[in-house]
Amino acid sequence: MSKNTVTITDNRTGKSIECPIKDGVHGPSVIDSRNLYKELELFTFDPAFVTTASCESKITFIDGEKGILLYRGYPIEQLAKNSSYLEVCYLLLYGELPTEDQMKNFRGSICQHTLLHEGLSNFYKGFQHDAHPMAMLVGVVGALSGYYPDAMDIKNPEHRNMSAIRLIAKLPTIATRIHKYLIGQPYVYPRNSLDYVSNFMYMMFSRPTMDYEFNEKANRALEIMLILHADHEQNASTSTVRLAGSSQAHPFSCVAGGIATLWGPAHGGANEAVIRMLHNIGHSRNIPKYIDRFKDKNDPTRLMGFGHRVYKNYDPRATIIRESCHGLLKDLDMSQMPLFETAMELERIALEDDYFIERKLYPNVDFYSGIILSALNIPLNMFTVMFSVARTVGWVSQWMEMMNEPDLKIGRPRQLYLGNSRRDYIPMDKR
Ligand code: ACO
Repeated sequence: MSKNTVTITDNRTGKSIECPIKDGVHGPSVIDSRNLYKELELFTFDPAFVTTASCESKITFIDGEKGILLYRGYPIEQLAKNSSYLEVCYLLLYGELPTEDQMKNFRGSICQHTLLHEGLSNFYKGFQHDAHPMAMLVGVVGALSGYYPDAMDIKNPEHRNMSAIRLIAKLPTIATRIHKYLIGQPYVYPRNSLDYVSNFMYMMFSRPTMDYEFNEKANRALEIMLILHADHEQNASTSTVRLAGSSQAHPFSCVAGGIATLWGPAHGGANEAVIRMLHNIGHSRNIPKYIDRFKDKNDPTRLMGFGHRVYKNYDPRATIIRESCHGLLKDLDMSQMPLFETAMELERIALEDDYFIERKLYPNVDFYSGIILSALNIPLNMFTVMFSVARTVGWVSQWMEMMNEPDLKIGRPRQLYLGNSRRDYIPMDKR
């Protein structure tokens, strides 16, 4: 019997199957259970994919126990310190850090595609003034495929690359237009002489009536936030993009699916939920009362921005963004901001509380990202849109990797059926 296998025996029938164990470069090995149904007529049961590796990937690695996050092998700490968001985009998409020439060309391609088809403006106008920006983002990104029919062949690698570039280039324009639409200000067109982050801030905050002043420290804080959120392997939204893509749907609609998934408060919506929670808590003196609620199983309220499915020690992104957050508030002279003081006190109390210690619940990246975004004057309802802008590169990189697989199959999970057994139809007058 080979050492690199797991034997699974059905004790009801005595039938066995040897499943190969496959090793990755890092992380737990996996049991290749693909023949289980064919040989033993059994499925594996793993709701919420707690212990299921759904694909092979070379993009991002996370060690949740040790708090490690690598993009294409590079530690997130080094990228956050030294890299730009666009350089990280190149790395995630193509696997290597770019040379100067490659970076120049990549930047040039992104700049060529920052404009939106003018017809999309009419699409915006269909939304009510109080629409949630995430509802608009799902809709507008989903609609993109109707405006760019020239690169619709997902089997053509050049078309795939074009779609990836378009998404990364257009997301800031789409996102800032949502904000401008909702506050009733004129849209600001992209200025391609600016870098990616400055261009975002310019489209978000400038007005035709006055000059816009850039703040380098604010831009860098935003850039770090975008880098930290760029990819996170097979999380809920990325898995949604892959599953949609496995049916050979167009990447714009797959990414719209990813955005919809990210919106939930258990995922990307947490950054917005953290700030709402801090507003509800109000003053630090109310924290103990709220901590009791977070621990109460009969109360659905959770401590938002705490806990993670994978990180059970600490979230390395939280460590970086915490520092960036402190630095930014100091630079902007906002350290005394009551919201921030409440957040720091809440973090301190929770980290000393047995409930959170025993369950290995630590602050995740969203505990701090909301505070940074607040300090940058980004409106609360735009927070998850910001996360979507950052994560778009992760979604398209994962989609491109999947589309390059030679034997791509449609994703199709199975189920454990617990409903009624077969029964006969009863006419209405006899029920
Ligand atoms: N507050 C209070 N209790 C919590 C929290 C929390 N934030 N998170 C987990 N718990 C408790 C659960 O009640 C459970 O307790 P029990 O064992 O006594 O039943 C235990 O910790 C394990 O929790 P699960 O829900 O099983 O953990 P899971 O891995 O499924 O959930 C999740 C992870 C969704 C992130 C969860 O911790 C959570 O809801 N956190 C708050 C929302 C949040 O911050 N989301 C952002 C995630 S990061 C991201 O998407 C960028």
